[in-house]
Amino acid sequence: MRSAGWVPVALLSVGIVSACQSTGLAPTGDRVVGAVGCTVVFPGPEHIDTTGVVRWEYKQNENDPELTVVLYYVASPNPEILPEYKDRVVFNMSDWSLGLKMQLADQGLYRLRREEEEKSGKWIKLEVIEPLSKPELFRNSSLAGSTIEMVCNVTVGRVDSYQWKKDHKPLPRSDHYQLSWNNSVLLILNAIQADSGCYSCKVTNEVSENETSLELTISADGNLYSE
Ligand SMILES: *[C@@H]1O[C@H](CO)[C@@H](O)[C@H](O)[C@H]1NC(C)=O
Ligand SMILES: *[C@@H]1O[C@H](CO)[C@@H](O)[C@H](O)[C@H]1NC(C)=O
Ligand SMILES: *[C@@H]1O[C@H](CO)[C@@H](O)[C@H](O)[C@H]1NC(C)=O
Ligand SMILES: *[C@@H]1O[C@H](CO)[C@@H](O)[C@H](O)[C@H]1NC(C)=O
Ligand SMILES: *[C@@H]1O[C@H](CO)[C@@H](O)[C@H](O)[C@H]1NC(C)=O
Repeated sequence: MRSAGWVPVALLSVGIVSACQSTGLAPTGDRVVGAVGCTVVFPGPEHIDTTGVVRWEYKQNENDPELTVVLYYVASPNPEILPEYKDRVVFNMSDWSLGLKMQLADQGLYRLRREEEEKSGKWIKLEVIEPLSKPELFRNSSLAGSTIEMVCNVTVGRVDSYQWKKDHKPLPRSDHYQLSWNNSVLLILNAIQADSGCYSCKVTNEVSENETSLELTISADGNLYSE
């Protein structure tokens, strides 16, 4: 239970705490995906040495030169940490794990390196993704008989999928509804009174989901009923 001792709360900024895992995210295999502002914990090795030098290295892309984020002379009182990481990196001197509070620019490859190359760790790929902001829902009409276009717009973060519901149920499959732009746009063709209701749009990506809804009230066309 390597991550049990972590107290990421102290590292997290308020605001997105809810989206972060309380123990800090750990890689499975050689890839990890995390949210901006959350903490990832790269585990230390199986066995630690009692002498020597150990580094945590970073490179943005495969062919880039590597940067030493943490340099630790084993048994010295403190690790050396690259200035731009100082306030958001925690190197654990007893198990050599590295905790990192993520920013978008932290994407890339990380590994633990020791003096003896064959004892170094594998490169682990970190992807950092922005949690999605609450979508905004727009409609261009609410008139019976018209084509109503509803747009689900997210200003922060890249959306992987959009899901629409009407009155908390998935939209019925029918020609009456048309989805486009990767499902971010919903068209209601030839709207009728029964199209009135609560429409919601749920957006998801690998690190978050968010949702918003809009009450649509179809008003009769023509001037007879002016309401
Ligand atoms: C460092 O790692 C050890 C062993 O996994 C753990 O017991 C300890 O709580 C960790 N220290 C911190 C500051 O997280
Ligand atoms: C949705 O986004 C808003 C900011 O636009 C954020 O405050 C809120 O926490 C998000 N909700 C979820 C469930 O992530
Ligand atoms: C709303 O947008 C749709 C799709 O662009 C369009 O066909 C329709 O005429 C628009 N409705 C109004 C009232 O502007
Ligand atoms: C959606 O948001 C983008 C900016 O994030 C803006 O340019 C665009 O006009 C918005 N779309 C609608 C329908 O408001
Ligand atoms: C739809 O999603 C794909 C994959 O995420 C993206 O490359 C493309 O630009 C999106 N298209 C639109 C119209 O948003």
